[in-house]
Amino acid sequence: MAELSDIRETVRERYASAATESARGAHGEARALEAESGCCGPGSGCGTPTADGVAFGAVLYRDDDATGAPAAAVEASLGCGVPTAVADLHGGEIVLDLGSGAGADVLISASRVAPTGRAVGLDMTDEMLALARANAAEASVENAEFIKGYLEEMPLPDASVDVVISN
Ligand SMILES: C[S@@+](CC[C@H](N)C(=O)[O-])C[C@H]1O[C@@H](n2cnc3c(N)ncnc32)[C@H](O)[C@@H]1O
Repeated sequence: MAELSDIRETVRERYASAATESARGAHGEARALEAESGCCGPGSGCGTPTADGVAFGAVLYRDDDATGAPAAAVEASLGCGVPTAVADLHGGEIVLDLGSGAGADVLISASRVAPTGRAVGLDMTDEMLALARANAAEASVENAEFIKGYLEEMPLPDASVDVVISN
């Protein structure tokens, strides 16, 4: 059986490559890596495919879903849903996004809970964290932060957030 560290490294390498592609504006290439991996690709059973058969990424976001996130963050999305379309967020809450990637859902959440709330993205991939921080800076969002860590070794105190989302 594969070791957890080997599985993580395989996943991390894949998302590091996707983030590197998105950072140079090659979002299609980033999505192709995701589709190739079998995660969210055709026939994976992940997400609800559009008429074009695409089940993940920016195509799932309508304009009003994406308020608060710059286009580059939404374009770099590799998620198979729109958690902020179903999360009932309120001003002042603290939102945690598990596997925050390029940060779109964190930035959307941050705009919903502002000015007193904040949104936190947790991700293990340095390249994704750098991309998310660049996207937050581009959008001048100050109530969002991105922290490095594993979902299965949560680097946050118990009961320190109000809402958990993931995509
Ligand atoms: C499918 S992408 C989704 C990214 C983002 N939520 C979005 O909607 O675009 C999954 C993200 O989770 C991160 N990830 C995967 N496994 C993880 C783990 N065990 N701990 C922390 N982050 C992880 C990856 O680095 C990647 O950025």
